Amino acid sequence: MYQSIGHDNSEKKWAKWGLASSVIANVALAGAVCMVAFGNTEPTLESTAMRVAPQVAPMVHIAPRNVFQGANFRRNLRVNAEESLGFTGYIPYPDTTGASLTPLPALQDKSPYSAELQQTAAAIVADGKGILACDESTKTIGKRLEQIGVPNEETYRRQWRELFFRTPNMNEAISSAILYEETLFQNAEDGTPFVDIMKANNVIPGIKVDTGVRATFMDGETITEGIDGLAERAAKYYKQGARFAKWRGVLRIDPNGAPSMEAIEGNARALAQYGKICQMNGLVPIIEPEVLMDGAHGIEVQRWVTEKVQAATMKALSDVNIEWEGMLLKPNMILPGTDSGKTASPEDVAKNTVEGLMRTLPAAVPGITFLSGGQSEEEATRNLNAMNKLYPNAPWKLSFSFGRALQASVLKAWDGKTENVEAAQKLFYALSKANGDASLGKFEGEHPATTGSLYEKNYVY
Ligand code: 13P
Repeated sequence: MYQSIGHDNSEKKWAKWGLASSVIANVALAGAVCMVAFGNTEPTLESTAMRVAPQVAPMVHIAPRNVFQGANFRRNLRVNAEESLGFTGYIPYPDTTGASLTPLPALQDKSPYSAELQQTAAAIVADGKGILACDESTKTIGKRLEQIGVPNEETYRRQWRELFFRTPNMNEAISSAILYEETLFQNAEDGTPFVDIMKANNVIPGIKVDTGVRATFMDGETITEGIDGLAERAAKYYKQGARFAKWRGVLRIDPNGAPSMEAIEGNARALAQYGKICQMNGLVPIIEPEVLMDGAHGIEVQRWVTEKVQAATMKALSDVNIEWEGMLLKPNMILPGTDSGKTASPEDVAKNTVEGLMRTLPAAVPGITFLSGGQSEEEATRNLNAMNKLYPNAPWKLSFSFGRALQASVLKAWDGKTENVEAAQKLFYALSKANGDASLGKFEGEHPATTGSLYEKNYVY
């Protein structure tokens, strides 16, 4: 399809110029040979080439540049490409890879849920509030439960999650929670659907919609999948009460060349397609291009790579005409690689993270909900606090969507025992308040966490 573009009038012009230039080239070549033949110079390959070359580079020198690269030519390319896809007004211009020709039928339309998306996004990042990310896959939550000797069975997964949703006054600092599909359709022990408990507590349900990662050609790199059937699933999730969604793209830094262009572009495009499909079905997409902190690199490299990944993601989002006001970004904070032996102060983390985002993220996006990415609960809170303290006038809300950094101490406190539920809930409330305060730049004093580093190499959610 891509190769068929350009079969138009401009191609005939190319043919004419080709003919003219080949005549000129041949005349010039004959002249040069005569000069060599009638002069006393031996016609070496080198001397011939040197004398002939300036006269025989006809295509580029003779033909005016704008014949090949001018506005008409580009417009024709675009019109042909659009026609070949059966719609118009979508493709801004064909890019060098042809990737912007990927057909995304009808995705240029504005979402019928546009106003609602904006309201939902604003509510998720309301002052002093953030997201509880408890959308671990069954396999990952199994690893957590195993730490406290609890079997990975539906009953226990339900008990664990119910503990959060029934925490008194949870919504003072938690606006919303991301759920795994099982939880979205699950009932509490007394038969009440979890979504009803959440709604009654003024907590917005969200849903993880990616289906996991596929390995790419570069060792250890992945592209996140889940586009097939996503529109239908999104509509079903909306009907069940979900109002936002999450998709995690994972990039890693490796001196052997990761992240590769394939991984950056592939994940960016998948995030954009997911984002657009969710918006069309009423779900605010949380766009999560996570650059892992695994590696021996310094903070500068983490920042540089993260900026490149974010910029590619924004380009892909723009290509699908995302409604910026109806999405949220969930990036990694910028820290030195975990194997670098270096640490960074909250101020350093804040400066690198926010300054990087200022270069990549449109101000129209209402909020940033950071992942914790393996930082300790305390580190994540203090780094978020520093961002809000140093950048009180940032164009977006700087908030949280923590998984490990909101659950680790709570899991330890619960220990799988009913008699510990209340104490665990109190701890969860205290942790969420600490982060709510940090999202206002007002956290100070002791941190309630009882665990240290939560880092896991090559983390799978
Ligand atoms: P962490 O805060 O544990 O990194 O998880 C957040 C998340 O949702 C990752 O997708």
